[in-house]
Amino acid sequence: MILLSDSPGDLETAARAIRNGLLVAIPTETVYGLGANAWDTRALARVFEAKERPAFDPLIVHVAEPAGASEVADTTVFLARELMERFWPGPLTLVLPKKPEVPDLATSGLDTVAVRCPAHPVARKIISLSGVPVAAPSANPFGRLSPTRASHVADWLGERVDYIVDGGPCSVGVESTVLDLSAEPPLVLRPGGLSLEAIREVAPTVELFDRSTTSPRAPGQLPSHYAPRKPLRLTDSGALPEARPRGRAVAICFGRDSAVAAERSGRFARVVDLSPNGDAVEAAAELFQALHSLDLGDWDELWAERLPELGLGRAVNDRLYKASAK
Ligand code: TXA
Ligand code: MG
Repeated sequence: MILLSDSPGDLETAARAIRNGLLVAIPTETVYGLGANAWDTRALARVFEAKERPAFDPLIVHVAEPAGASEVADTTVFLARELMERFWPGPLTLVLPKKPEVPDLATSGLDTVAVRCPAHPVARKIISLSGVPVAAPSANPFGRLSPTRASHVADWLGERVDYIVDGGPCSVGVESTVLDLSAEPPLVLRPGGLSLEAIREVAPTVELFDRSTTSPRAPGQLPSHYAPRKPLRLTDSGALPEARPRGRAVAICFGRDSAVAAERSGRFARVVDLSPNGDAVEAAAELFQALHSLDLGDWDELWAERLPELGLGRAVNDRLYKASAK
């Protein structure tokens, strides 16, 4: 594995490597992606192998410009144009009818393809220089914490990738929102970096997939995803003081009052506050880095409180829920 910077020469190297079928981890505003040429089935097969990802879990295809989406998908479906115009580039993935040229491996044989135009300038530059659409799942082993730093990719995938481009920490910190426009009504399959409230301003009929009433549509919805190695337990917002941790535990809070109450309870060896002001955007940006580093610490258990189910709080709660599921 070779580590690259975001210098123009290194971005050229990364783009050429992708075009030639190699695996390149690239920074996006959400999380690092494991990029491969979406037209190259051998490269796609290596992505699944590197991540130990089951072949039934399809990849997101990334384009440098919104207009590039029509190369891989039918962008004339209801609401697609409006959503692309308003939210791309950005943390929104659209599930659209696929073009026949897109390899089945990228879409796991579905007749839809997930497409995203990321906002990170480094990702956009690499995709545009590569001259191909770039299939990129999060650059983590399947089911593990998502990477928001180049070092997370190096630690977890290491020699399984050819290059890692270091673009610094990811600003959004949780994966994109996956919105299925082939469903009626359109369905958010994965809450993420773009809030449901923002989407509903453009598309009021969009519904949130409800895991309690519907069977999984995207494998990322299976419980036990984003898992740290240490047990993670969840409480309601503000309920950490009533927790009964076993052994040395750390509390993950979102707000000054919660943090003070968790400290005072005396139940935790350490209290970490991911957003003293209770700001879900800030909490999302810190979440995976905090879990990565706490997972390496000397704790028997990690405990976290939920955020209110609003804005990016939904994405944070979703990741915490999946990280806590056995
Ligand atoms: O922010 C992100 O979306 C990051 C960065 C790298 O762009 N990528 C990412 O990819 O999170 P991945 O592979 O970890 O998650 C993709 C999700 C999975 O839950 C997958 O099941 C779903 O998108 N997905 C992909 N294609 C789909 C399709 N055709 N229909 C329904 N769900 C799909
Ligand atoms: Mg992932």
